[in-house]
Amino acid sequence: MNQSASQRLQSVRGMNDILPPEAERWARLEAVAIACLEGYGYKPVRLPIVEPTPLFTRAIGEVTDIVEKEMYSFVDSLNGEELTLRPEGTAGCARAVIQHGLANQAAQRLYYLGPMFRHERPQKGRYRQFYQIGAEVFGLSGPDVDAELILLTRRLWRNLGLADMRLQLNSLGQPEERARHRADLIAYLEGFAAGLDEDARRRLHSNPLRILDSKNPQIQEICAGAPCLLDYLGAESLDHFVGLQRILWDAGIEFDVNPRLVRGLDYYNHGVFEWVTDSLGAQGTVCAGGRYDGLVAQLGGKPTPACGFALGVERLMALCAAHGGGMDAPSPPDVYLAHQGGAAGRLAVYAAETLRDAGVKVLLHCGGGSFKAQMKKADGAGAAFAVIIGDDEAADDTVQLKALRDAASGQRRVRVDALPGFIREYFFNNDTAKKENGHGGI
Ligand code: HAM
Repeated sequence: MNQSASQRLQSVRGMNDILPPEAERWARLEAVAIACLEGYGYKPVRLPIVEPTPLFTRAIGEVTDIVEKEMYSFVDSLNGEELTLRPEGTAGCARAVIQHGLANQAAQRLYYLGPMFRHERPQKGRYRQFYQIGAEVFGLSGPDVDAELILLTRRLWRNLGLADMRLQLNSLGQPEERARHRADLIAYLEGFAAGLDEDARRRLHSNPLRILDSKNPQIQEICAGAPCLLDYLGAESLDHFVGLQRILWDAGIEFDVNPRLVRGLDYYNHGVFEWVTDSLGAQGTVCAGGRYDGLVAQLGGKPTPACGFALGVERLMALCAAHGGGMDAPSPPDVYLAHQGGAAGRLAVYAAETLRDAGVKVLLHCGGGSFKAQMKKADGAGAAFAVIIGDDEAADDTVQLKALRDAASGQRRVRVDALPGFIREYFFNNDTAKKENGHGGI
């Protein structure tokens, strides 16, 4: 065997396999999130993972960490087109809305979920392939929509049993307001040129707002006295921001206005927000978003106000594992179907399909083996019942029905067509079984 063939193949660093039972918890979380999004009238979209590179450079901004150093970009060897694995979902969503004229007639509330790719240094809560669930609204300009997105996410935290999420808000105003603030900010920071670190010096004239977000305590100290963007907002921007806060107050949502919340993508204006937690260490931002009224026009579409958010599924899963109530152990099958012999095998397939028609979760034993070994597997799978079929049962279309978690119910021989009725009755009449198997009767 040559050297490369003997090397064990591994997943790419920072790109993880999500396996059972973890993947089942993911599916549940996604189902809870989708139910929540659909409860607010959001419709699903499925968008490409690969997009033209200029989409991201134009949307996210040339002088951002994502575009400067985190994109997985490559040239299509067939036609020389520059392509990129999407680092986020907003740009692609805006592209699709423009391409299909989606927002021409009516406002659109859309949602997506799927993998995003950023070439970051992997650590807990930060991966190179990670999953987002995102929502984007196109065609509505008022702060009521920004508030709706926040209400929606708050409902999701509640449905997942998460209590310790804090909301941070800021307004990035309008481009003219940011331009005035930027000039004053640069002048201020130039006065501290000697104290700036390499990163801040590099950003001073390209993206000074991001310096406010620095984690370096020395830079934070300098920034404490820097001009504050909120002081540059005109009447319209202030109205929007106050309007948003008023709806949140009315809805009983607590928040902090954080003037340092500047976001790492350039397309935002007006309100931006982040949901953060102290439970996840350094990567404490679980969900982030805001308004981006200029993006659609900037990408060549008709001017269309827009706003949205995306949450990081890995971070949310980690939080649910620590605090959430709703993502407990995956639900076991209702029935493990054990069988031995040719005729029994055929009846087993029939019995399994009949049960599934009635909504019963069935794990059909495959691969032969003794009844003793099969019963061990039935027990290990956590099934409520074993259905056992041997030659005798197969001869007269009956099965042995054995309750595995409830000794009192014992074992009985029943006709195969009566099976769904027996099992249904058991789940309706047995509260513990209902809870353990995750359904209120079948
Ligand atoms: P973002 O802040 O770059 O915004 O990402 C949103 C969320 O994705 C973060 O708060 C975090 O939970 C998760 N996330 C980001 N990078 C990673 C990573 N490397 N590993 C694990 N999780 C990560 C956006 O992506 C915007 N498109 C949000 C948006 C939608 N704004 C308006 N609409």
